[in-house]
Amino acid sequence: MDMDYPPRYPGQPSGVCSDDGIPVVDLAVLVNGDAWERAQAIRHLGRACQDWGFFMVTNHGVPETLQSAMMDACRELFSLPPEQKQEHLDAGPMDPVRVGTGFNSAVDGARYWRDYVKMFAHPELHCPAKPESLRGVAAEYAACTRGLLLELTAAISESLGLEGGLIAQRLDLASGLQILVGNHYPPCGGGPGDDGAVGLPAHSDHGLLTLLFQNGVDGLQVKHDGRWLLAKPIPGSFFVIAGDQLEIVSNGRYKGVLHRALVDREQVRMSCVSLIGPCLDAVVEPVPELAAPPLGLEFRGVKYRDYMEHQQSNKLNEKGALDLVRVATADTYSPAHIFFN
Ligand code: OGA
Ligand code: NI
Repeated sequence: MDMDYPPRYPGQPSGVCSDDGIPVVDLAVLVNGDAWERAQAIRHLGRACQDWGFFMVTNHGVPETLQSAMMDACRELFSLPPEQKQEHLDAGPMDPVRVGTGFNSAVDGARYWRDYVKMFAHPELHCPAKPESLRGVAAEYAACTRGLLLELTAAISESLGLEGGLIAQRLDLASGLQILVGNHYPPCGGGPGDDGAVGLPAHSDHGLLTLLFQNGVDGLQVKHDGRWLLAKPIPGSFFVIAGDQLEIVSNGRYKGVLHRALVDREQVRMSCVSLIGPCLDAVVEPVPELAAPPLGLEFRGVKYRDYMEHQQSNKLNEKGALDLVRVATADTYSPAHIFFN
């Protein structure tokens, strides 16, 4: 628990954490709290981003019925026969609709135990034609989660000591990319000595912020203080995962968190992701206010389209894509020009 601030009333916590220490951010306080409560909540959010890059958000305003409808529509898609998804199976990483297995089967040989659907949802919604229910649900879900992600972005901007609108403006979020992802992990493993299959290996996300909820089957792990921790959600909450663009724009103050997905031995695991990122044409670079001497720039500028295409076209390798835009120090060498110039 964050106890830096004296509680306003005896016993009132200044920040909340789940049993395993994962920070919990109450959106209602961020949006509707009085000035004192908001200041506390923003400080708590800043700590969550700095120490974890991962937190849960409660009282987020996205109806549970809409979460369920999104999950149901994805489940329906995964149960369609392959010929009904055929046209999206060969899609590349920058195609607006993509259905596939593994991470990028062209480079990982489909060795991860996962099916996915990815849809660009902003600036324009793209969606498979089947199941028919998907388009309407995806449109509503995208709009609702986008509002939440933009609120969080503004609060995160404030937590860095910046104007609330500054990150949104620098990354041109008004024209920003949003992607909806449905993940489906069939049960696997369970034999003697079998450690089970990996659904998605350790990675950080390429965007700014990722919102995720699951179907009640645990499996998402986050790396915190050098250890993998199973993320157990508060019912109805979302997980928020800080992405690489937050690390770049904050000049490394906030880090894109490493996470991975394990597969359950007996039950189907599913997750629904809504991710926002910069405008694909925006060049993302650290905010100068966060790179003033003696800090200096930790990252060079990179066009988000190039960054995303590189991250999505290669094997998922922890934070390999981000390392390519890190500014070289005396003892590191960063060959970003090979890929990004
Ligand atoms: C992702 C991801 C984890 C999960 O889609 O980027 O990390 O639990 N998913 O499905
Ligand atoms: Ni991820």
